[in-house]
Amino acid sequence: MKSSGVLVLGIETSCDETAVGIVRGRKLLANVISSSVDEHARFGGVVPEIASRAHLEAMPNVIAKALSDAKVSLKDIDAFAVTAGPGLIGALLVGTSSAAGLALALDKPLYGVNHLSAHIAVDSLNSIHKLDPAIALLVSGGHSSILQVNDLTSDVKTLGSTIDDAAGEAFDKIARILELGFPGGPAIDREAKSGNPDAIEFPRGLTLARDLVDHKYDFSFSGLKTAVSRYLAKTPNHLRADVAASFQEAVVDVLLMKAIGAAKDSGIETLIIAGGVAANSRLRDLASERTTKAGLQLRIPPMDLCTDNGAMVAAIGSLAVAKGLKPSQIGFAADSSSGISKPIF
Ligand code: KG4
Ligand code: ZN
Repeated sequence: MKSSGVLVLGIETSCDETAVGIVRGRKLLANVISSSVDEHARFGGVVPEIASRAHLEAMPNVIAKALSDAKVSLKDIDAFAVTAGPGLIGALLVGTSSAAGLALALDKPLYGVNHLSAHIAVDSLNSIHKLDPAIALLVSGGHSSILQVNDLTSDVKTLGSTIDDAAGEAFDKIARILELGFPGGPAIDREAKSGNPDAIEFPRGLTLARDLVDHKYDFSFSGLKTAVSRYLAKTPNHLRADVAASFQEAVVDVLLMKAIGAAKDSGIETLIIAGGVAANSRLRDLASERTTKAGLQLRIPPMDLCTDNGAMVAAIGSLAVAKGLKPSQIGFAADSSSGISKPIF
């Protein structure tokens, strides 16, 4: 199998998206997603048991549609990749079992991959640029970190992370308080478009001089959440769009302040922004403005590849094959709390 043209099928089931992507080398051929989000909406968050069952039901059709979109058949696939963690354990197990079954039946290598590394790997698709070294701002529903990516499949250093809520979690919580529904990120993004981001001065967590001593690249969003709740309680006639826009501005401002600071301090000139929150329109705009000013190269995946998808899993599988990394043992254990220091299982 030629590494430049290796055909990899990636399966993602860590949360509520059943997703399958197919790549040939770094070229994206198919990206099919079936989401159970509507089944969770009335609970205000993802219900693990519902997610697992939905993955089981959706898997065969999602795989079939991805193969058909890519115009390949299952026997053409050279290697399989699957999210092994972090994520909801029952949901992960549906993906890892499906992938193990396929790999065994077709006698092809299987790579259990880290979901966070996969979010960053999606940057490698449809382009020939060198992905690392880079500073990565990884912002999703469960994680917010600044990473020094020396080599995505073997050497990633965590420079900082959130000490309480993840950025996406903050969006989801504030959207609930503002009665904007679930998931909250896209809803706040939309609502904020008609609001004034400077209307309310919300706090920027861990940015005071004394915080920077121990938490230079760390985030905290719980104080912001309290500030928004207090503001709403004492301002009955608030404009919801202004609250959404000002909240969003506070999150985006601090994410970029710290990520760009890390890039400047490390001397690494590329900033990759990845994870679901990277789909945020204000984050994308402000990132472009500030990295241009700072003389940094900015890379953000297209919006549909920021939130969970199978293409990102296939992408890191393909990078692993290209680097000649050993496949995972077929019986590897999924790990719900796996850190980015273990990119391949
Ligand atoms: O990466 P992802 O799809 O799943 C996890 O790995 O967690 O990220 C989901 C998170 C959710 O918290 C969602 O509200 C947030 O990403 N998100 C956004 C936007 N789209 C999704 N946050 C802000 N603005 C958006 N446009
Ligand atoms: Zn994710």
